Amino acid sequence: MTRPKNDTLLRALLRQPVEYTPVWLMRQAGRYLPEYNQTRARAGNFLALCKNPAFATEVTLQPLERFPLDAAILFSDILTIPDAMGLGLYFSDGEGPKFERPLREERDILALAVPDPAVHLRYVMDAVTQIRQALDNRVPLIGFSGSPFTLACYMVEGCGGTDFRQIKTLLYRRPDLLHRILDVNARAVTAYLNAQIASGAQVVMIFDTWGGVLSHAAYREFSLHYISQILAGLERERGKERIPSVVFTKGGGLWLEHIADSGCDAVGLDWTVDIGEARRRAGGKVALQGNLDPAVLFSTPEVIVAEVKRILAAYGDGSGHVFNLGHGISQFTPPEHARILVESVHDLSRKRQEH
Ligand code: CP3
Repeated sequence: MTRPKNDTLLRALLRQPVEYTPVWLMRQAGRYLPEYNQTRARAGNFLALCKNPAFATEVTLQPLERFPLDAAILFSDILTIPDAMGLGLYFSDGEGPKFERPLREERDILALAVPDPAVHLRYVMDAVTQIRQALDNRVPLIGFSGSPFTLACYMVEGCGGTDFRQIKTLLYRRPDLLHRILDVNARAVTAYLNAQIASGAQVVMIFDTWGGVLSHAAYREFSLHYISQILAGLERERGKERIPSVVFTKGGGLWLEHIADSGCDAVGLDWTVDIGEARRRAGGKVALQGNLDPAVLFSTPEVIVAEVKRILAAYGDGSGHVFNLGHGISQFTPPEHARILVESVHDLSRKRQEH
């Protein structure tokens, strides 16, 4: 595997020396970019965009044409796995994801099977291959998946934006059935991420968007346990290059020490924690990714620069920090504010190193 010309992200994730703090943005290809909306209109809808490797490649590269980002992230969605399991994913306009056949009956749960990524998720692997070709080793490509628990939330609830009543009822009434779903999901995610790595992904990230809604005890049993299982099953090297892994549990600040022990190379942070304190708590075991509140991008250039400065200072000197937002960029973000963010992370972190 050839190393990217700009490999700053890979070095930061492995806590090797860097000249500046690398930055990318969760959901960096998305509706805040007019060119994304145009491509999506040409594709017909969001799922058609994900399922067409040429369109997925085009939108993956769009934010890189605009801003000096240090990584590309595969354009896809975490819900491709339950879709490949036959649950019937669809997006109704402005309402987020839904499933035609959510998992409610015991017999459906027992019938759940691991999809073969080379067959049922072929379009994702084709997108990874095409994006790597189009990137021509400019920056590394991040592959990703949802966590087993976060996927289960959508599979059981049948949609987003819920109060988690269905999944929590299952958790407390029939933990055996939830464990069965999580075990299938963990095996599916492991195979899926390994297939992305084999197709050319140079970093993998696990999005545990809903782990933070669990109780202290339930988080470890129903979310982190399965994340660790995936990490233990990943191909950690391709050629001679290590493939770093990132675990992001939104609302996971209280469990940082445990997440840092899961076997990942880096932990993603939302904006509710102080990144300097997180660094001390993680005890030098992992790199950290984050953690600007995405709402800062609704403010002014002066405020954006000040908040970037604050986070860089809180992290302190030395490698091991990947700058990012604490969650996905909002569709209402002015694109010029994303530029100010990316450029100020580069400028201010270089200046800090010169002192
Ligand atoms: O970061 C990137 O640029 C890569 C692309 C990416 C998307 N979804 C594209 C997308 C990634 C990494 C995801 C992950 C994802 N998808 C997560 C985990 C991260 C997070 O945000 O918490 C989750 C929970 C999903 C499920 C999902 N997909 C939801 C809840 C929604 C609707 C919310 C919304 O923003 O409308 C989606 C749709 C989606 N996925 C969009 C994009 C660009 C917007 C769809 C559109 O263009 O209409």
